Amino acid sequence: MKLINFDEKNRTFHLSNGSISYLLGIENEDALSHLYFGKAIKQYHNSRKYPTLDRSFSPNPSESAIFDRGFSLDTLPQEYPSFGHGDFRNPAFQLKQPNGSFITDFKYQNYEIISGKPTLEGLPASYVINQDEAETLIINLVDNLLNMTLKLYYTIYANRDVIARSSQLINNGSEKVTIDKIASASIDFPANDYELISLPGRHIKEREIQREVIQRGIKIFESKRGASSHQSNPFVALVSEKTDEFSGEAFGFSLVYSGNHEFLVEKDQFKQIRLMCGINPYTFSWVLSPNELFQTPEALIVYSANGLNGMSQIYHELLRERVARGKFQYAERPILINNWEATYFDFDAEKIKGIVDQSSELGIELFVLDDGWFGKRDDDISGLGDWYENSSKLKGGLKGIANYVHDKNMQFGLWFEPEMINQDSDLYREYPDYAIQTPNRSMSKGRDQFVLDFTREDVRANITQQMCQILDNVEIDYIKWDMNRHITEAYSLSLGAENQGEFFHRYILGLYEMLEKLTTKYPDILWEGCSGGGGRFDAGFIYYMPQSWTSDNTDAIDRLDIQYGTSLVYPPSTMGAHVSAVPNHQTGRITGLDIRGDVAMGGVFGYELDLRTLTESEKDIVKTQVAFYKQYRQLLQYGQFYRMISPFESNLAAWSFVNKDQTESIAFYFSKTVVAAAPLDIFKFVGLDANKQYLLDDIVYGGDELMNLGVYINPQIHGDYQSRKFVLKAI
Ligand code: GLA
Repeated sequence: MKLINFDEKNRTFHLSNGSISYLLGIENEDALSHLYFGKAIKQYHNSRKYPTLDRSFSPNPSESAIFDRGFSLDTLPQEYPSFGHGDFRNPAFQLKQPNGSFITDFKYQNYEIISGKPTLEGLPASYVINQDEAETLIINLVDNLLNMTLKLYYTIYANRDVIARSSQLINNGSEKVTIDKIASASIDFPANDYELISLPGRHIKEREIQREVIQRGIKIFESKRGASSHQSNPFVALVSEKTDEFSGEAFGFSLVYSGNHEFLVEKDQFKQIRLMCGINPYTFSWVLSPNELFQTPEALIVYSANGLNGMSQIYHELLRERVARGKFQYAERPILINNWEATYFDFDAEKIKGIVDQSSELGIELFVLDDGWFGKRDDDISGLGDWYENSSKLKGGLKGIANYVHDKNMQFGLWFEPEMINQDSDLYREYPDYAIQTPNRSMSKGRDQFVLDFTREDVRANITQQMCQILDNVEIDYIKWDMNRHITEAYSLSLGAENQGEFFHRYILGLYEMLEKLTTKYPDILWEGCSGGGGRFDAGFIYYMPQSWTSDNTDAIDRLDIQYGTSLVYPPSTMGAHVSAVPNHQTGRITGLDIRGDVAMGGVFGYELDLRTLTESEKDIVKTQVAFYKQYRQLLQYGQFYRMISPFESNLAAWSFVNKDQTESIAFYFSKTVVAAAPLDIFKFVGLDANKQYLLDDIVYGGDELMNLGVYINPQIHGDYQSRKFVLKAI
């Protein structure tokens, strides 16, 4: 099937896989217009040709033979707009030239269509396995004066409703040009009343779903923190007013990038909406010398006609199948026990062994030794940067613990925070210049630590070498890669003055290079990303690490919000979720072990508490949970995920999992605070096969019956923080 067509006569490109269409055109003055993105059409007959209309104060370019007062870049919906020739909205890019000018004039020159999808040098991106599963359109725009080429990449997959976009700038000229801004993608939507969904948050309250009406003016979601951040996940969606979880249009924009990003939404004077995303231009500048190329990160743009679940499911499949990589991409992930909330820094070999003994009896599969095993690290003020074991703390050493764990037939995992350094560390004493700092300025601390200058090869090499020393000598099955503060006093002692604007992006490129090296060198290790919980939960990280710690907040009730919000983009197989102790360490809330287990089964399941303190009956519950999760792990980690009732909008929450052939489903229903003499709630299942019969609690129901009629929540909810799970099996 041909996925991309060029109509010579009308000069339009049509990308379509039979489910979605994306249309762009070449206009007067060889400008590139955005025509349409949405449900597929078979053929385009110029229905979206932008009317010529003489609008006051919207200038008209005058280069082409036919001067047209009805044509203005100020009004035209575009693909990758520039600034300076009459479009007064935000541009997708900005270049500063040797003579001080910012004016550019990139005009359409030619195109290329290739099968498959090229990789992005040095950056994570979605990929293809077979060349025929996608096609890529490359549009070349050229500025003749500068002798520079802008290449716009558009990949459409045959079986996924996504367009992957990125851009490249190539300097063929003879002088340096400074890139002050270069977006990954930009789209202009015709005038409409779309609403905007975003995922703002904060530490221990990540990815809250925010929905707002778009007013005229500019709205920006961004990170200037050096990481994708808890505060502003690199994602937004445009939705129609009536869009809900199951119906209506949704356009998702997700950036495959872990650094400073910007999502800018601008509603212009005529209520047209411009949406662009990419590296945050704030303090960004990149010197592009002759013969050099700059590659932007990739934006994944999804269209769903089936509401937010439709959008999320497209993202889930894409991130699982064509962004995540490696041995664990589809593997059933082990149930883990992490000692952080059980012991914090206060542990020794005996304590750890006690927890391991208990875990193995309960059927847990992986023990993770968290922070505190290395250097001089008995609290969070020293030791980061010294990745050698603290043998006075761990009698028998790491090897001893690893062997002990393996002898119990469990796997062994270890925590690292490779990007950090404490002032009180051997590394800092030897190389104080490794820490990020601006000359002659004071250095801000975060959790008492500094960030290492990962733009520098020598710094990365030092840490890599220390990590390899451990990984080559101890049998390690899993690594948690943490990052517990953001970057301040951004500057690199290794970059010249004119290159300091490159700092943040170079940091991420350095980080990605190191992740690529390590994950390639140790393919048998399961890597889990983390940044004070979910501070780097982004598609870029998923390329290197198939799962991430979702939040440092392990409170079951808060986790309903956090996991529900996270699932807007990221699949359950990427979300670490643990049962922890009560009163919960972050909120002080007391919830039952059942609901804690049921909520944690919404992600990659594990425990994070001192199992030795559990009563016998609690241990029985844990055993049952572990056995249940193992039995349904495939479904829970890789099944189709549906959000059903939003905890952001009610006292309830619900979600469910359905396997591919719709023969198995598990639905979870949660109630926060109890309501006396409550109305009787009906629970309607989703995603089933209407023609199949399902067994639920030993009773046979039709799929249509379960979805259209539903069942009463019975017995009624009694007490706060209750959960129910419904296991359905087709007969
Ligand atoms: C971060 C992580 C936690 C834990 C601590 C250790 O906060 O998110 O899970 O690893 O660091 O210091």
